[in-house]
This record gives sequence, structure tokens and C-alpha cells, in this order.
Amino acid sequence: MLKLVVCVSGGGTNLQAIIDRIADGTISNTKIVRVISNNPGVKALDRAAAAGIEGVCISPRDYADRALFNEALLSGIREADPDLVVLAGFMVAIPPAIIEAFPNRIINIHPALIPSFCGKGFYGLRVHEGVLKRGVKVTGATVHFVDEGLDSGPIILQKAVEVRDGDTPEILQRRVMEEAEWVIMPRAIDLIARGRIEIVGRTTRILPEDK
Ligand code: GRF
Repeated sequence: MLKLVVCVSGGGTNLQAIIDRIADGTISNTKIVRVISNNPGVKALDRAAAAGIEGVCISPRDYADRALFNEALLSGIREADPDLVVLAGFMVAIPPAIIEAFPNRIINIHPALIPSFCGKGFYGLRVHEGVLKRGVKVTGATVHFVDEGLDSGPIILQKAVEVRDGDTPEILQRRVMEEAEWVIMPRAIDLIARGRIEIVGRTTRILPEDK
């Protein structure tokens, strides 16, 4: 059984996709043991509660400085003893201490095709604003392992999404979530649960199904 801690910040639609895919068996042999939000009162925590999953809020506002918040976040993750930490719309920079505690055991969803439109300043709607400003015809989403960089760890899965005339950042964000994020995040978790992701240097390989 792959035990997940899912870290969220807001709407929790990626969390909901994971909950739903575990429920319908698309994700095998996996259980969410804790949801951690850095913001109180967000819909993601309601989604966790509705699914009977423990939800905790660990907010920087409750700590005197960033170092104390980072320590609390690490403790909050460790307490749940996860096999995999999933960043699902989590708007917090992961400190080195957490990366070191969970090497190649933290994954993130980015709403663009890394290495495009990622790194400093590219998060949430800003990603899609950049896509529309540059006029690219194809965007998408990426699931990757988290390393000490920003959106720089080994890529696990990507899925392309068409940019259409008349798209606003909000319309495009929704299409990327529906057509890409909510598909590849569950699939990446299922592949990891089945032991089918092999890290090769700074890349990954999907191993064939066991016959
Ligand atoms: C999504 O666009 C996700 O890619 C980004 O945060 C946004 C909100 O995600 N990281 P969610 O609805 O909270 O899962």
C-alpha cells in the first residue's frame, strides 16, 4: 500500500482527482493518509473531510519565522509516515531539509510543459498568462520529482493541451486542469504505486507492466 501525504493550498481539484481515481481503482494500492494545507479554511480541506481523510493546516502565519514553519511542515509530513509526498497546487517553496528527508519521494504538478513557463514567478494563473502572451499553440502540464531546484526535478509525465483563439488565462487554466493535470497526476501516482518509474540521472523511464 502506497501511503500519500498530499499538500494543498486552495481549491484542491488535483486532490479531488486523486481521491476519485483511488475510489474508482484507477490508482492501485494507494491511500491518502493526510492532507496538509498551508492555508486555513480552503476548499481542499473540505474535500479531504468529505472523503474522511485527516486534514491539517500548517500555516506560516502561525510561526514566528520561516525556519519554524519549515520545521513544522517537515514534522507534519513525517508524522504521517508517507511513502510519497504529493504537491497538488501547493504554493510553498519546499525547503532543502524536506527534500533531503524524502529524496525522490516528492512529486509536483506544474501547469505547463517544463522547461517552458516554469521557475521563478511562474505559478497559478501567471503560467497561463505567460503562455498566452508568448502565443504558443500548445501548452499542457508536467508531473515531476521535486529536487532542490524550482520545477527542475526529473520529469515523470507530461500531457499536451491545445491553446485556442480567444482563450483567457482562466479558460486555459481550466482546460489544462481538466485535460492534463487531473489525468497525469493520478497516472503518475499509479505508476509509482506499481513500482514502474525508474529514475535515470535527471530523467525517468516507465518500466513495462509486469507480465
Ligand atoms: C493548478 O493549476 C495547479 O497546476 C497549480 O495550482 C492550481 C490549483 O490547483 N499548481 P488545485 O485546484 O488546488 O489542485
